[in-house]
Amino acid sequence: MKVLIVYYSTYGHVHKMAEAIAEGVTQVDGAEAVLRRVPETLPDGVLQKMGAVGAQQAMSHVPVCTVEELTAADAVIFGTPTRFGNMCGQMRQFLDATGALWAQGALVGKVGSVFTSSATQHGGQESTILSFHITLLHHGFVVVGLPYAFQGQMRIDEVTGGSPYGASTIAGGSGERMPSENELEGARFQGKHVAGIAKKLHG
Ligand SMILES: Cc1cc2nc3c(=O)[nH]c(=O)nc-3n(C[C@H](O)[C@H](O)[C@H](O)COP(=O)(O)O)c2cc1C
Repeated sequence: MKVLIVYYSTYGHVHKMAEAIAEGVTQVDGAEAVLRRVPETLPDGVLQKMGAVGAQQAMSHVPVCTVEELTAADAVIFGTPTRFGNMCGQMRQFLDATGALWAQGALVGKVGSVFTSSATQHGGQESTILSFHITLLHHGFVVVGLPYAFQGQMRIDEVTGGSPYGASTIAGGSGERMPSENELEGARFQGKHVAGIAKKLHG
């Protein structure tokens, strides 16, 4: 059973969460986690101005995803940084290239799930995940979130991401904060949860 984790990350926060999601997936017997990045759409010069070159190099070992790889997966977990309360353009462009898959109904019945990162606590994590779900529903995905069985999302003793909609991290205004242990635990939980449901659905 294959769980594809496909994401975009500029500075490495979503990447780090994706690795934790993969750890969770592999806790389910027979589940294979496949990590992929969506293609970059920004020119090198812009990435340089954004101070993202080092982080991009550190993630360059992760292969770039093709839309066809979506069809080979039993479940797909999508990761995107928040951009104005929405998914990033790189992810939008990747998804907008899946029209042929939609026409064939190629993704109907697969498990789909979303995780995210934003600079600020209330900068749109929930809107990013929930608006992403619209695309998943158009494709016929069975949408799965992060249930309160992951009790770490109840914490108020520290600043933390994570909601019933999906795992998340708060990166800080200049990306200075990396995912906390609680946020990584939420990502592991989501990976395991999605893989467990996919196993029940697809055996
Ligand atoms: C164009 C742009 C728009 C952004 N919009 C938001 C936003 O609406 N809310 C927020 O909290 N952070 C926003 N951010 C910050 C990113 O979400 C943050 O850099 C990202 O979560 C870091 O994850 P990454 O290292 O995986 O890219 C924005 C960043 C950029 C470049």
